[in-house]
Amino acid sequence: MTGVIVWVAYTFAIPQLLTPRVAITSPMSLIHVGTNDSFAITPDGIKAGRYILEMLVSGSREAAQKAIEIYDQIIPRENYGGEYSALRWFAQLFLMSEPEKQKALQDPFVASFYDFFAENNFANLKEYVQRKYLLQQYPDQLTETGRNRAAFLEDFILFNNPAREEWEQTSKVLSVIPLSPGQTIADVGSGPGYYSVRFSEKVGSTGHVYSVDIVQQHLDYINRYIQRQNITNITTINSYPGTTIGLQGKQVDVAFMCSLYHNIYGMSTAPDRDSFVQSIKAALKPGGTLVLVDNGLVEPGQLPYHGPYVAKELIIHQLRFYGFKLKREYAFIPQRYMLIFEAV
Ligand SMILES: C[S@@+](CC[C@H](N)C(=O)[O-])C[C@H]1O[C@@H](n2cnc3c(N)ncnc32)[C@H](O)[C@@H]1O
Repeated sequence: MTGVIVWVAYTFAIPQLLTPRVAITSPMSLIHVGTNDSFAITPDGIKAGRYILEMLVSGSREAAQKAIEIYDQIIPRENYGGEYSALRWFAQLFLMSEPEKQKALQDPFVASFYDFFAENNFANLKEYVQRKYLLQQYPDQLTETGRNRAAFLEDFILFNNPAREEWEQTSKVLSVIPLSPGQTIADVGSGPGYYSVRFSEKVGSTGHVYSVDIVQQHLDYINRYIQRQNITNITTINSYPGTTIGLQGKQVDVAFMCSLYHNIYGMSTAPDRDSFVQSIKAALKPGGTLVLVDNGLVEPGQLPYHGPYVAKELIIHQLRFYGFKLKREYAFIPQRYMLIFEAV
């Protein structure tokens, strides 16, 4: 009897006690989908936001310069890949000569981002900064409409940020996606189209891109953009409530998801997740590819991209269960990984 107790203790209890535990709130937890967000509002962020407002309202070059100085200091320590680099971009643009500015706005996607925030004397940019840093009260700020508006402005500035290439190394991500002219791709959780527009160039006039999202404002922005640019190979799909990818019988060569699967992994019920992943499988042509880009754990002391992250091993194992085989993986920056699966 004593032998059995000792065996149980050694086999189960003692290893449990000795195994280091990681709290879900720790930065080293395997998954984090909470509010512990690196895009938090900080005193320096507010100070820089005030300078951006001053620059916009009174045209002060000194305010633009001061905002840039603050962002140069706080981007490496507070907010990697967030709104700071986009706001710094606006301040830099503000200080440019007219020919420099025209050059910076040559890319129509960047020009469209600028126009969105600049129209009506920078009304949208002022509103974003005021809402984000609580610099002005909005009558709707405690209502669902107000929260949705603030979330849309925040998402838009984060996802279509002209400085995104710098921090994300987007062109490296694009270069390893197996997508050729004439092929079809579903950009699931497309947001306002940062990747969709790049895919549209990659697949050309004989290929097609489906931009799938559950937020109609993002899709409206894409629709306006493709109409203005005369892009005919992108179709937007509202897949709300998001329990499938909404392709309804259409098949694609590649399904792509950037910074979405951590939500599906961490926040969906098991039946919803089953339905979502099965709909990806159903939408892929035989031998089709699933590409996931997501936020991973980083070593202590290194700034994460954003609060939400999930260890890639969790996703790889879960998708294996769903019948996806990992073919290749990459990490062009420490904060993000890229997984390429084949449906088997
Ligand atoms: C973090 S954003 C990333 C946007 C885009 N992939 C990018 O990298 O620029 C995630 C997007 O997924 C959308 N989304 C969330 N849940 C979804 C679901 N179940 N199905 C489709 N889209 C979803 C959100 O509305 C949001 O636009």
